[in-house]
Parts: sequence; C-alpha cells; structure tokens
Amino acid sequence: MIHITRRERFNAAHRLFREDFSDQQNLEVFGKCSNPKWHGHNYELFVTVKGDIDEKTGFLVNLKKLSKIIRDHVIEKLDHKNINLEVEFMQDKLASTENLAVGIWNELEPHIKGLDAELHCVKVVESENNFVEYYGDRNE
Ligand code: NI
Repeated sequence: MIHITRRERFNAAHRLFREDFSDQQNLEVFGKCSNPKWHGHNYELFVTVKGDIDEKTGFLVNLKKLSKIIRDHVIEKLDHKNINLEVEFMQDKLASTENLAVGIWNELEPHIKGLDAELHCVKVVESENNFVEYYGDRNE
C-alpha cells in the first residue's frame, strides 16, 4: 500500500453566516469570514489516494488522470465561483472549509475507483494557517 498526493488550486468567494443570526452575531461566531459583502480565498486542495504500485508502470496512479478527475469534477465547479451561491454540491450547507472538504470528497470518490485506487484524504487549505483534512466516514 502506497499513498500519492496531487495538489490543485482554486480561488473562490464565500460567506460564513446563518440567516437566523444578526450581522453582529455572525461576526462573533464566524469572524471576518462573515463579511456581508463577501470575500475570497486562494484555496489549495491536496488529494491523496492509496493503493498498490502497478508493476508495469511503477506508478500507483497516472497523475495526469488524477489531475483531470480533480479538475473536471471539483476545480471546474469551484474556481472563480461563489461557494454559497453557485456551487451545487455546497447548496444548503455552511460554506466552511470542513463542509467543503466533505463535499469535495463526495464529488471525487466515485471517480477515483476508476483509477484502481482508493481515496485516502482530501485536504483543503483555506489560508496559510488554517486547513482541514477529511479521511471519509469510515475513520470518524
Ligand atoms: Ni473566509
């Protein structure tokens, strides 16, 4: 069993807020990310898959194929978008990094199986100091 990680990047806007909170309450709970006028982050996404080395290629997976899957099923949907308003898999969810990592996992998982590998970790880096790692339900 071996692991390999592909990094992709995207820029997106979001706002963390609850409709049932006042702007002041939202600021207290969600901080600057509750700005009613929106703001964005330069996100980094690290997708780690696991499996066995293919003796013919010496690879676990073809990274070009992995990158294409991530781009087609995740980056296209998020890059230069408003996560709250435009991203279907984030509808009716708080646009937190945690929910984003779970949403990205769910978008990717069925496609990774086609590479003869298993999704191991989705890591979403929102800022230099804040990031989330999701390993799927089984390890919760
Ligand atoms: Ni934010």
